Amino acid sequence: MDLKYEISQLLKVAIPELTPEEIMDILEVPAKVEMGDYAFPCFRLAKIYRKAPPLIAQELVGKIPASSLLREITAVGGYINFFMNPVPFVTHVLSSVLREKGQYGSSTLGEGKNIVIDYSAPNIAKPFHIGHLRSTVIGNSLYQIHQFLGYHCVGINHLGDWGTQFGKLIVAYKKWGTKEEVESKGIKELIRIYVKFHEEAEKNPDLDEEAREWFTKMEQGNEEALALWDWFKVISLKEFDRVYDLLDLSFDSYAGESFYNDKMDPIIEELREKGLLERSEGAEIIDLSEENMPPCLITKKDGSTLYATRDITAAIYRKNTYNFNKCIYVTALEQNLHFAQWFAVIKKMGYEWYNELIHIPFGMVSMETGKLSTRKGNVVLLEEILNEAIEKTMEIIEDKNPNLENKEQVAKEVGIGAVIFNDLYNNRIKDVIFSWDKVLNFDGETGPYIQYTHARACSVLKRADVEIKDSQDLSFDLLVDEASIQVCKLLEKFPVVIQEAAEKLEPSLISRHIMDIAQAFNKFYHDCPILTSEEKTKEIRLALVYAVQTVLSTGLHLLGIKAPTQM
Ligand code: ARG
Repeated sequence: MDLKYEISQLLKVAIPELTPEEIMDILEVPAKVEMGDYAFPCFRLAKIYRKAPPLIAQELVGKIPASSLLREITAVGGYINFFMNPVPFVTHVLSSVLREKGQYGSSTLGEGKNIVIDYSAPNIAKPFHIGHLRSTVIGNSLYQIHQFLGYHCVGINHLGDWGTQFGKLIVAYKKWGTKEEVESKGIKELIRIYVKFHEEAEKNPDLDEEAREWFTKMEQGNEEALALWDWFKVISLKEFDRVYDLLDLSFDSYAGESFYNDKMDPIIEELREKGLLERSEGAEIIDLSEENMPPCLITKKDGSTLYATRDITAAIYRKNTYNFNKCIYVTALEQNLHFAQWFAVIKKMGYEWYNELIHIPFGMVSMETGKLSTRKGNVVLLEEILNEAIEKTMEIIEDKNPNLENKEQVAKEVGIGAVIFNDLYNNRIKDVIFSWDKVLNFDGETGPYIQYTHARACSVLKRADVEIKDSQDLSFDLLVDEASIQVCKLLEKFPVVIQEAAEKLEPSLISRHIMDIAQAFNKFYHDCPILTSEEKTKEIRLALVYAVQTVLSTGLHLLGIKAPTQM
């Protein structure tokens, strides 16, 4: 049961002209509690019934069947207002959470469906910067959400481990690098010589030509070139893995761009056979003027392949390997054109599944200090941010709760959770400005605030030290104060919110909702004594605490954030 759904079913009896879906769409939550829990505006019915909305509202009220879930139905102006009956409502919501526990909100919706999620995908020999964090945490959250809804998920880290930049890096290394420096300094040293390459190439364009030659050698299997490339990759992956360890996540596949090296020829051949390839100044392109886009480059004039060539090949490989129902790409907004172009190519190739390819763009992250860029070298490495978050959290713990058990672990879970939450709290398309004061504010709308609320619930349950009673032994009629009902209303919506988050591919719907739950819970905690209450009241309030603790823990988990029991 879901109250909104229930009301739509009742309304359908009175308004046979509308479908239940249409009714669901029209139903709204009134701005003021005095106007009920749901309201149905009758303005759209004026056309059908040719009467004034207030009159329609009045007539309809008499036709709506009674339901034990509703206490009152009234007509006010052009609206029908529905007031729920708190006891059956609260009984229903809490019993569901107590019964389903950590599974509350899960579903079998996705059973038998495969979802490929392409996320994170940092570039070898380039920094794993705070921009990649967005792809990583949005992708991971979408993975967790879909899995919870019963989908079979395949998480792919499409590493940027192929392309002309490796030609540049080889030239740079041969001119200005040493084995020792790279071994000891890792990616930082690779970035240094890469930046130097760009500075020097501005004065001496021959360097670019040399770089192109080295990349062509790589594509042709030249041993020296491949050995260097492989070494750069080992160095980079070591650092990436440290970040993934901190975030505690892993991938089902690390098939990056280089994986498609030996798979592109047949695809280029297929494009040619289908008459899609055109020559243009020695390069091979696919005309997309009908689609109002610039052409998609497939090979350069020296025969080397491009980012798009590898993406087209990868999509076909993934369709054949995983038989996906959806393949989701989580990258920055700037890549919109790239994805639109090659999705159009897949369509032109005659693959009907082109519309199962979905690009999920997101806005940019900037530090308060300014934009991030690799070529200029003023990058902020994600690993440094994560470690700083842990250190700063440790300082806060030392200050507020120095005797906390397991301090190191908690500092890690809270510090990292704070960074992740900051990234997932707004619509993904919005830009994010990273500010330490905001991220780690335990009283603001932050990850630590929710984690703290969760830990508070855990501590109440621990102090009570009793088993939560079964639903049939609980007195739900004692849970009728405003604060408790408000918490139950939010708990009731949790499953719907998860499904919406999956539909819209928008984890922020969950972060917003659990923020609402945490705030409502803290009001309840403030208004309603728990452990000092009379026995029956204490039992039912503890059940509510347990329900909130469970749902917050699930919600945090769906965002990829840990829920420590003490803070
Ligand atoms: N490596 C790319 C970047 O850092 C992202 C790759 C996204 N995935 C893809 N299949 N193109 O911008």
